[in-house]
Amino acid sequence: MISPVDQRTWLVSESPFNPFKLHHTETIFTVGNGFMGVRGTFEEGYSGALATTLVHGIFNHAEGDLVPDLVNLPNPLPVQIWVDGELFHLNAGKVIGFRRTLDLKRAVLTREVLWRTSQGLVVKLTFERFASLADEHILVQRVRVRALLGSPQIEIRSTVDAKVTNLGTQHLTDVQTSLTGAEILVTARTTQSGYGIAVCAAHSLSLETPAQSDSEQVCYTFALPQENEISLTKVSAIYTTRQSDQPAAAAQKAAHAALAKGYEMLFAAHCAAWEQYWHTSDVQIEGDEVAQRAVRFTTYHVLIAAPRHDERVSIGAKTLSGFGYKGHVFWDTELFMLPLLIVTQPKLARNLLMYRYHNLQGARNKARANGYEGAMFPWESTDTGEETTPQWSHPQPDGTRIRIWTGDNEQHISTDIAYAVLQYWRWTGDDEFLVKYGAEIVLDTAVFWGSRAEYNAEYDRYELRRQIGPDEYHENVNNSAFTNSMVRWHLQQALAVRDWLLIHHRHAGQALLTRLNITEERCAKWAEIAAKMYIPRDPEAGVLEQFEGFFQLERLDLTHWQPRVANMDWILGHQRAQRTMVIKQADIVMLMALLGDQFGTLEERQANWDFYYPLVDHGSSLSPSTHAWVAARLGLLEEAYKLFIYAANIDLEDLKGNVSDGIHAAACGGVWQAIAFGFAGLCLDERGELQVQPNLPSHWRSLTLRAYHRGQLKTIRLTAQD
Ligand code: BGC
Repeated sequence: MISPVDQRTWLVSESPFNPFKLHHTETIFTVGNGFMGVRGTFEEGYSGALATTLVHGIFNHAEGDLVPDLVNLPNPLPVQIWVDGELFHLNAGKVIGFRRTLDLKRAVLTREVLWRTSQGLVVKLTFERFASLADEHILVQRVRVRALLGSPQIEIRSTVDAKVTNLGTQHLTDVQTSLTGAEILVTARTTQSGYGIAVCAAHSLSLETPAQSDSEQVCYTFALPQENEISLTKVSAIYTTRQSDQPAAAAQKAAHAALAKGYEMLFAAHCAAWEQYWHTSDVQIEGDEVAQRAVRFTTYHVLIAAPRHDERVSIGAKTLSGFGYKGHVFWDTELFMLPLLIVTQPKLARNLLMYRYHNLQGARNKARANGYEGAMFPWESTDTGEETTPQWSHPQPDGTRIRIWTGDNEQHISTDIAYAVLQYWRWTGDDEFLVKYGAEIVLDTAVFWGSRAEYNAEYDRYELRRQIGPDEYHENVNNSAFTNSMVRWHLQQALAVRDWLLIHHRHAGQALLTRLNITEERCAKWAEIAAKMYIPRDPEAGVLEQFEGFFQLERLDLTHWQPRVANMDWILGHQRAQRTMVIKQADIVMLMALLGDQFGTLEERQANWDFYYPLVDHGSSLSPSTHAWVAARLGLLEEAYKLFIYAANIDLEDLKGNVSDGIHAAACGGVWQAIAFGFAGLCLDERGELQVQPNLPSHWRSLTLRAYHRGQLKTIRLTAQD
């Protein structure tokens, strides 16, 4: 028996329709399956709607643009309905009932509308859609029309809209639409990258009415007696040349085969696949309905974005749910989304790490171009693995552009990726992955740092100058405590991985070391850099200095600016923000989260928290969940819960005002981390054994989660008494 609370916490609903939240709800109602993401745009369209269909890996660099975009593909959604000649639209006739529900458990979006025409006829329209988890090329829609008052003549027109752009940028060329019976095929090619794309929509109506097609639409016309219902099933298959040499033929074949199965069968297979996902990834919280729904929502969004069968793509900062950050991949994937997958879906985690492995060449190119050795991963990455961070911002109100330095100097990403590889290895025990792929990532990024670290003879120490740590309000700083500490940790780990390889996989290990030119001298240098890495700190208070000179900056009392939604660098201006101690996001606190006990004693952690917490602006959505995690570990439960619930609602409640650009995927993954690593205190001890150190919010009666540890699925149930 499913309890009403359980049922409610799987559903995210909108009722009535709120046109002012059009783009917010489009984003949160995105459906996806790790291959495609389709925003929650209405079938009949709406003024200003951002119909968006994104598929991993299809990037294109349009002429005149600074960097490539993830391409908006032809929109498979459009279905228009005429009731006695009147076109259904939410701004026409009278909407007398509206409910849109995303069922997170079954990953299906349903919209029910009671609509009265201006002539007084009433119909109930039900729209359903899901991106099949059983067959990732397939998007399934069903539209049901029921005559409630009157017996109207109904006309349905369905199409695939190829006139799509990325907010005005045209990425498609050679666009062709053809129709055969009740099937529409759109083919296109991306202008620069040359990917071939095919979308094929096949239809079946529950009535024996032949389709009358015109040049771009499949049309059905029929009489609908009062109390009767018809249903149209539309199955769209998407293929690109990344999956097939003949995407058009593949899409046609897939659409046919899926349509032949019928809606119910497709839905059953989809639900069965989702049941498997939730079996390991669901977190259950008793005593907090808001948190329960939110964590299911955030987990859903990571799962629908995680590639299942393609290890050459990764998840962008905004998943496949919007145009934000142009679909580019950041550290968000490795340090925020990946842990949820490492622990609950290790195969998906492996896929994502393989993306970095396959893109090592891009990282090596970046290192060479900057005069270094080894592999220096791009801050923003796409399909090629080359650096794709734009160097300049969009024009500011005064017409000037701001130089963006992250692509040059936010170099900690190379270590973040190595950290993720080692986390994956520790949790899964997947030695094969480490030997064949992971070690190469860890070691070649260490080679980069070995060539990057600068020796300061005056102080007999190693330094890293011109860096950007997680706090991007302060650019090109010297000796970022976060970066320097992580690099020290990275070099130590690289040496340990080398030793492990030579003991356990001598042959393969030796071959790799030779190939990467990792000599005894190089290893000795790594050890020296790690031993002499400069980490600025106040020796008395034990507080790290975020970077050299940070303690001399102007200190602002952020409470004077509360309440606010705008970021402090926007309020203060880019230049002034750099001269203050206001920090964008968890930086030293991030270090505490990543290094845990290795950061220092409990007193030191508390002292660092006390110093940095009042300075943080949470200007990045990555910040609150990391703070929640660390606060929970420090036993600051009230603060931890406040930060956690904020993070959990960032997208649901549009707390940053920009969900229109897409889901804040790192915040979504961060919510899981705050629960698992924060409140549950899930961790691996030095021997790699699973431990929990619970610190639950006082009103949670219990918390249950699942974790794979070295291939074994464990259920962890914690109660208020634990
Ligand atoms: C954050 C970065 C993050 C990026 C993409 C920025 O605002 O400061 O840490 O990687 O957004 O989410």
